[in-house]
Amino acid sequence: MCGIVGYIGYREAWPIVLKGLKRLEYRGYDSAGIALMNEGGQHIYKKAGKVAVLEEFAESQDRSGSIGMGHTRWATHGVPSDRNSHPHTSNNQKLSIIHNGIIENYATLKEELVARGHVFDSDTDTEVLIHLIEEIQKIEQIDLLEAVRLALHEVSGAYAIVIMDKENPDRLIAARKGSPMVIGVGKGEYFIASDATPIIEYTNNVIYLKDNEIALITKNDLLVKQLDNVVQTPLIQELELKLEMLEKGGFDHFMLKEIYEQPRSIKDCMRGRIYPEEGKVQLGGIKEFAEKLKNIDRIIIVACGTSWHAGLVGEYLIEEYARIPVEVEYASEFRYRNPIITEKDVVIAISQSGETADTMAAIEMAKERGATIFGICNVAGASIPRLSHAGVYTHAGPEIGVASTKAFTAQVTVLTLMAFYMAQQKGTITTSKMIELLTELDNIPEKIQKGLESNDIIKQVAEKIKDSTNCLFLGRGSGFPVALEGALKLKEISYIHAEGYPAAEMKHGPIALIDEEMPVVFIATQNSSYEKVISNIQEVKARKGKVIAIVTEGDTEVKKMADYCIEIPDANEAFLPLLATIPLQLLSYHIAVMRGCNVDQPRNLAKSVTVE
Ligand code: AGP
Repeated sequence: MCGIVGYIGYREAWPIVLKGLKRLEYRGYDSAGIALMNEGGQHIYKKAGKVAVLEEFAESQDRSGSIGMGHTRWATHGVPSDRNSHPHTSNNQKLSIIHNGIIENYATLKEELVARGHVFDSDTDTEVLIHLIEEIQKIEQIDLLEAVRLALHEVSGAYAIVIMDKENPDRLIAARKGSPMVIGVGKGEYFIASDATPIIEYTNNVIYLKDNEIALITKNDLLVKQLDNVVQTPLIQELELKLEMLEKGGFDHFMLKEIYEQPRSIKDCMRGRIYPEEGKVQLGGIKEFAEKLKNIDRIIIVACGTSWHAGLVGEYLIEEYARIPVEVEYASEFRYRNPIITEKDVVIAISQSGETADTMAAIEMAKERGATIFGICNVAGASIPRLSHAGVYTHAGPEIGVASTKAFTAQVTVLTLMAFYMAQQKGTITTSKMIELLTELDNIPEKIQKGLESNDIIKQVAEKIKDSTNCLFLGRGSGFPVALEGALKLKEISYIHAEGYPAAEMKHGPIALIDEEMPVVFIATQNSSYEKVISNIQEVKARKGKVIAIVTEGDTEVKKMADYCIEIPDANEAFLPLLATIPLQLLSYHIAVMRGCNVDQPRNLAKSVTVE
């Protein structure tokens, strides 16, 4: 996610904005920029890289002025570069903007603005917005606040923006929809930021701007309006949170914050890509290969760790809906085998970081042998997207916790969209079926939000099994990769040995492990393999195993035999991996906390494995 900081008041803006950007570094970013307003006009400094690079670059420049704004960019449209960094300016160079979010209809708006003679410097969606505001102000001959208000009616997507105007150097304009924004209220000064971390050391009094609100801010005054022009009386709240807590959004750990971000991150992942009423999926990142997808022989998915588990879910979905054969390979194995690859193969490389050495090597080998490479990545401009012919970003936002959570569900969401997109291209799915599936998929974030309400029950279950030395996770169908993911989460943050297995495999060996000390976690949701899973649960109970079952809410059958049940909302089988994984993330999180483990930085692990 990008970070924004603004200041208007009696102090020098540069040090406040620069320090504010450093406070937001935990959000992850790839470039940074600051704009200042002073008697000499507007000064903009922006660089790819860390805030320190920007600081060094501006060392010898004019950094005076008591009005300023800054931005740390997490690239979504346009690779990380100086010219794609924010702030962006209007055609006439009078207006400048910083933005956190995604303008979904920027391409259409850009076409219209180019036709009207606008010249763009960057590849970003943000620059389109400031040109649109300039164009509306010019045509309607209205003040900037009104021009911004009208422009925001024309954009779809999410935004938290701050705008400066050379013609009116005594004010800032701010607005938000779908991206967070906090306004700090000082004496003769105001602060603006994506969250309270850059503000807290100056004032505890904050206003959380609401969606569809716009604000005009001067040193001594603040006007807040709804986009429908109705003036609002903003609520000033007093913050109690400590800075360190704020960076985690009030959660104890980044991992927990990221687990709870999943309703939003999945919504962001789908934003602008699904059209349920029409039964359509749009994936601009692989659109140029739409025709090719109709005639490919096979899809090979390469990845590591959690991303490999997402690939297994993708296999079920792509084969089920697009009827294309899929193989899922550990990248580290694939790169050293001598696999048979042809031009009629598509290789999908999945990676949160986009820097995993084994996955990169697998891509290079497949590319040399003629395959088409699609990347699924969470970091715009990372090595793997650059190595790929095309791809789809997960838009989950930076994942700080080493144990992957929201990136996994975002990867599964992208794979779900890819399966539907490919089915659309091959005609293996009817429009009415697509409408039904996409309508339900659109509601999955709400169902995940509901599933998070089981947190307290999950914590109680964690208390019961936290001292185990081993644990089994069992599932069938797409519940099997979920079992693997649940086992990986537990072992990597609580250091309890855990294994995931297809539930039917138990009788081929693992059942010898079952005794009253062995907790067995079943993915036992109501789907096509429900009855079979029930008989597996009975096998475990017959051997005194301790059964924890993830069940569909309202289930009564499994409740009669399991020791503990954790309910998730009912959903089409295609979406169960998204819902069933969340309780397993929370289970491993609570066990690790109870065992005093370092949840965000588990021993021996790195967030990105850039070596073999
Ligand atoms: C998952 O919790 C682990 N952190 C690890 O397995 C990770 O998924 C794996 O290293 C792959 O990383 P990538 O997605 O960045 O390529």
